[in-house]
Amino acid sequence: MATIAETAIPNTPFHRLGGHETMQAICDRFYDLMDSDPAYAELRAMHAADLAPMRKSLPMFLAGWAGGPRDWFDANPGRCMMSVHKPFTITKAVAGQWAEAMKRAIADTTPADAELAKAMGGVLEEMALGMGR
Ligand code: HEM
Repeated sequence: MATIAETAIPNTPFHRLGGHETMQAICDRFYDLMDSDPAYAELRAMHAADLAPMRKSLPMFLAGWAGGPRDWFDANPGRCMMSVHKPFTITKAVAGQWAEAMKRAIADTTPADAELAKAMGGVLEEMALGMGR
């Protein structure tokens, strides 16, 4: 018989927020907002015309980042936030657009643990703003 430790859902932010389904929902909302709201036009213009690859890869990145499956990191050995964004000039304004769209996406998606989701939005905002020059 399986022990409690074997059957319990791991206590990581990834799992507490609802796993892959939640990460996908947040990222789909994020790219929908980026694609439709003129407030994010500058951010949208930096991205490829086809957002489908990012709709797959950002949720996988966030999954590993939040303590879940690390498929994105395994598939991209040596890649990190710095190298991924090296080709881009990220201004403070566009970093603010990223942070705002992500916080809205998280709020609109209302993950299971709302308090933790809000905290994740805050950390992602700090990361994004820290990347702006
Ligand atoms: C600060 C503002 C940011 C801007 C302007 C920005 C912009 C971009 C752009 C233009 C791309 C390439 C997209 C494409 O090829 O269509 C990209 C890739 C990526 N971004 Fe950002 N980004 C920002 C912040 C972040 C943050 C905070 C994270 C993580 C929490 C993140 C995670 C990623 C990842 C993982 C990829 C690459 C995915 C892959 O190739 O597998 N970005 N970003």
